[in-house]
Amino acid sequence: MSFKNRHVISMKDFSRKEIDYVLDTAEKLEPVARGENRSRLLDGKIVALLFFEPSTRTRLSFEVATQRLGGQVLNLGSVEASSVMKGENLADTIRVISNYADLIVLRHPLDGSSRMASEFSSVPVINGGDGSIHHPTQTFLDLYTIRRESHLEDLKIAMAGDLKYGRTVHSLCHALSLYGAEMIFVSPPELSMPSEIVKDLQKNKIKVKETNSLEEIIGDVEVIYMTRVQRERFLDPEEYEKVKHRLKVTGSLLKNVDSNLKILHPLPRVNEISPAVDATPHACYFQQAFYGVPIRMALLALAMGVME
Ligand code: CP
Repeated sequence: MSFKNRHVISMKDFSRKEIDYVLDTAEKLEPVARGENRSRLLDGKIVALLFFEPSTRTRLSFEVATQRLGGQVLNLGSVEASSVMKGENLADTIRVISNYADLIVLRHPLDGSSRMASEFSSVPVINGGDGSIHHPTQTFLDLYTIRRESHLEDLKIAMAGDLKYGRTVHSLCHALSLYGAEMIFVSPPELSMPSEIVKDLQKNKIKVKETNSLEEIIGDVEVIYMTRVQRERFLDPEEYEKVKHRLKVTGSLLKNVDSNLKILHPLPRVNEISPAVDATPHACYFQQAFYGVPIRMALLALAMGVME
């Protein structure tokens, strides 16, 4: 299976066999991600980071992944300090930077911007999150976390919070459907999962239930994937105020749950998981953020053809 020069834009571009291959590669690289083994796999390679939206985990874990593999990072830095402010369009920015680097990681607010960038790039483009639909590297690390901490096959999972605008849940539910999951979507009605995604899942024989109550489903699932209500996606601040605190995982909610229940969150969290949960064996979200390093190492190494 060759990934060399392949763009990573959407989970829909990957078969289950290919996803498993990326997860297996990440597992091999985990000791390097932990700093236990050293690697020079990306010696002489340059990874460009173009982040047109704020990011902590995606940006820094790509940076760490590159450095742990012996490569170097070219960081556009703040958009305000770049020629984007002079009106340069994304296509030209990509054309230029693909002549400076061996791979580009792009985060951008517009749906479809990574796909468009891949058409103007002479090197592989990895989508670090664009618009409200795709965040494939997050999905790879979510799948890796679930495989490491629970199980992927026929998982009973609840996805909760902002299911309308949340690109992480949109990518994840498609990918999990390849493994035969049962899904419960928990959200205020204003932030429910888009109906076309629900219909798509049902067409693929995935059992889907929708509710607005965490209490109702907490005893029925193996994984809860919490998400933040994203203030930046609301045009009307009053609409955000109405829904921002509707769902919360607290210590008391977890009192009688199965000891194997795992709670994931792509982070950052705001108020949707109480700090009391952090010390429980259910909390997986900080471990999940670490798993972003071996996953991004695997994607970099495979796309640049230094691992097969
Ligand atoms: N989960 C995630 O994408 O986090 P950042 O926005 O900090 O990159």
